[in-house]
Amino acid sequence: MIQLGGEPVSSDDELRNLYQTRLAELGFCPEMMFYRDKNQHELKLLAIAEQLRLLQAGAPMSLLEIGCGYGELARFYTSTGDYLGIDIVPEFVSEAKERNPGLSYMEKSAFETDISQFDVCVLPGVLSGVPDSPGLLKRALQLSRRYIVFDVTLSNRLPSSFSSLFRWDSNELASLLNGEGFASVRVLDMGRSWVVLTASRVTLSAVSPSFRPCIGVRRATGDGSEKRRRTLYRDSPHL
Ligand SMILES: C[S@@+](CC[C@H](N)C(=O)[O-])C[C@H]1O[C@@H](n2cnc3c(N)ncnc32)[C@H](O)[C@@H]1O
Repeated sequence: MIQLGGEPVSSDDELRNLYQTRLAELGFCPEMMFYRDKNQHELKLLAIAEQLRLLQAGAPMSLLEIGCGYGELARFYTSTGDYLGIDIVPEFVSEAKERNPGLSYMEKSAFETDISQFDVCVLPGVLSGVPDSPGLLKRALQLSRRYIVFDVTLSNRLPSSFSSLFRWDSNELASLLNGEGFASVRVLDMGRSWVVLTASRVTLSAVSPSFRPCIGVRRATGDGSEKRRRTLYRDSPHL
């Protein structure tokens, strides 16, 4: 079972209650959603947005954001097609609507059955802090027609003293993706306890030429920007 803010969380109802309690205490801010700070929150959304933009090559694509929170992804990325953001916390959904009046948001769990497939599903900062992380990823894969973009906390990156987030194992992750007919086509490794993955339902040969398939999880190399990033964002057990 995961723990968030020192509290065990075993169901979506408990998770909703926890967010509502924190919202009353902290207001709308990254820390309320378990991000270390604004910087860390924006880094994650920027990394996710960068991956979404790489999928944009052809026709407009519809986007389902699962766990949209109060709508912060919209500051970094605009969908090229229809967009729907869903979240289980009604206060977050109301705030998202207020901040982004042109976009569609609904109070809804991804596990509800009346959601149609979208070209792309995205889950920013979601899969390490939910009661059933593999179950939610599996559901998101089923809701995706073509691509999925999400970040995960890798077990071998998280300090052993920090036991409360869901710890993803790379092999289990790969087999879950493969089991739903997806293959990982890009891994963005920021040198942190989390990485951003893009997976595709189509065969690798059909993927845009701009993709550089990676096997396993590797650190980015190159021009020193990686070192700068690591300096800016030291390993942290937070989302
Ligand atoms: C850490 S917050 C991240 C919010 C937003 N993605 C961001 O980064 O600003 C995780 C969000 O996932 C939502 N969530 C958890 N389980 C969900 C589910 N089954 N369906 C939809 N949203 C869910 C939570 O309510 C919470 O708002």
